[in-house]
Amino acid sequence: MKTGLAANNAKKLRELEAILTPLGWELIPQGQLGVEEAEEPHVTFVENALAKARHAARATGLPALADDSGLCVDALGGAPGVQSARYAQTTASEPKSDARNNEKLLAALGESCHRDAHFVSVIVFVRHADDPQPLIAEGEWHGEIITEHRGDGGFGYDPLFYLAEFDKTAAELDAQSKNAVSHRAQALQALVARLRR
Ligand code: IMP
Repeated sequence: MKTGLAANNAKKLRELEAILTPLGWELIPQGQLGVEEAEEPHVTFVENALAKARHAARATGLPALADDSGLCVDALGGAPGVQSARYAQTTASEPKSDARNNEKLLAALGESCHRDAHFVSVIVFVRHADDPQPLIAEGEWHGEIITEHRGDGGFGYDPLFYLAEFDKTAAELDAQSKNAVSHRAQALQALVARLRR
């Protein structure tokens, strides 16, 4: 199925493609279609994902798929949450930086021993911009924030996100393992199951 993909983060895009292409989806990143990034003004993942999907569908005339995701840390009241990509930004014009986001997260947690966290991915599929019944699927991936970076795979907060069941951070997992269990993989599996029904 030819679908507009509302994503600009190249590594996130690769994860989505790795899961959906084998299922017969033809994903066309919105950047390739000359579509600008949507605003993400909302305080919940689901509202932002819906806004991105609608924006992509309206601009491309294709069905559209969008993911809004982020890291929620219990001891920080769910922060950085929907601000994950921009956590360390002080002005809107400053470029996004995973390294500075990670530094800020470590500083915010300090020596705290309450380091439970989870990634959230909300994926929205709209058949067209005014689809009254968008398909919405959600995935969560639970772990804890360690005090030093480990691993160089993945992206974003992966080097700080420790998974006891693997004794590895998400950045130490190979791409195939991450794509089998991550929040994004879980959300996509739920979405595909809904589409099949
Ligand atoms: P979005 O592009 O607005 O959805 O922002 C997603 C942000 O959440 C990314 O820039 C990362 O900071 C963080 N994030 C989401 N998924 C992951 C992941 O799988 N690993 C690490 N960080 C992630």
